[in-house]
Amino acid sequence: MTTHKTVLVTGGAGYIGSHTTRHLLAAGYDVVVVDNLYSGHRWAVAPQAQFIEADVGDRARIDALFKEHNISAVVHFAGHIVVPESVSDPFKYYRNNSLASFNLIHSAYQAGVSRFIFSSTAAVYGIPHSVPVKESDDTSPINPYGRSKLITEWLLRDLAHADQLNKKQSPFRYVALRYFNVAGAALDGTLGQATPEATHLIKVACEAACGLRDQVAIFGTDYATVDGTCIRDYIHVEDLAAAHVAALDYLYDDGEAVILNCGYGRGYSVREVLNTVQQVSNSDFSIIESDRRPGDPPELMADNTRIQEVLGWHPQHDDLVVICDSAFKWEKTLRQRSKAAGSDLV
Ligand SMILES: NC(=O)c1ccc[n+]([C@@H]2O[C@H](COP(=O)([O-])OP(=O)(O)OC[C@H]3O[C@@H](n4cnc5c(N)ncnc54)[C@H](O)[C@@H]3O)[C@@H](O)[C@H]2O)c1
Repeated sequence: MTTHKTVLVTGGAGYIGSHTTRHLLAAGYDVVVVDNLYSGHRWAVAPQAQFIEADVGDRARIDALFKEHNISAVVHFAGHIVVPESVSDPFKYYRNNSLASFNLIHSAYQAGVSRFIFSSTAAVYGIPHSVPVKESDDTSPINPYGRSKLITEWLLRDLAHADQLNKKQSPFRYVALRYFNVAGAALDGTLGQATPEATHLIKVACEAACGLRDQVAIFGTDYATVDGTCIRDYIHVEDLAAAHVAALDYLYDDGEAVILNCGYGRGYSVREVLNTVQQVSNSDFSIIESDRRPGDPPELMADNTRIQEVLGWHPQHDDLVVICDSAFKWEKTLRQRSKAAGSDLV
């Protein structure tokens, strides 16, 4: 790629955004990070990136930012991500994931930025009819989180379609990446997930292994799966970050608008995951069996044929031990750093 393409990364102080920022910088992109630090951390942003503390829904601020910086693409991670919270407080999710995204997309569009990458989610599928799930399968999200993301996908789709119809020069194009379960940490041990009150299974299990939680609950042990617990498709955050760089290169190469699943196409049960965390951490934290949670599909796995074909992306870290080991090592580092700093870094 040629140098000095400036990319706006929203939510770049968060888990996936901070890893992707590093990958973008390594690939030669200039990065401007915008984050309101709601759940992200200033220290997680690579020093080579420019950091601006702002809310993506702040239209005046974002308009000005597009004027001040020579931005030619947006990678939009900023959002709220806790499914149960979205059920109890839908306004919060529609405001941040739909409305703030609308403002950002409108601002980018008016500034003439025609490349957009969006963090979507497997939650848009709801309870799939069959697995692995294809991008062309029905979307029928079963919670406000999934719906708030799908609305943003629809806006992107309609915008790209309108520009095609109107034969606009430099038409708006996007890549919506539907992530499955993101996990793991940078393999050099220097970055990982520090989301406060995270609900992700591997993160929670690593916290238990570090003595920060008394126990980890399995929600449902009577599913029609190999060991009765739910099966999910875990993707290493480094592979996901690489997918964003590939998606950006694709848009700079005039690739068309596309929706892509991000997963490995195979799943692990909750029990397998917990056993693996216990094994890599050499810990025997307590595991309790709870009732099923409403709306949890028994099995969720990505058909990742399309991302491999369209982006030429191939997993490099498709190994549950590598995922859990990197997550656990990071969790230990985070605790040591917090101790040294005399405060909780999360
Ligand atoms: N972690 C997963 O497994 C997963 C799965 C599917 C989709 N996603 C999506 O990926 C994206 C990133 O998730 P993450 O796990 O890195 O979460 P995260 O909470 O670590 O990161 C989100 C970042 O966005 C920032 N932010 C939130 N609202 C903002 C706003 N209005 N303006 C500016 N900054 C704002 C937060 O401060 C944080 O730094 C989210 O959009 C999420 O929905 C994540």
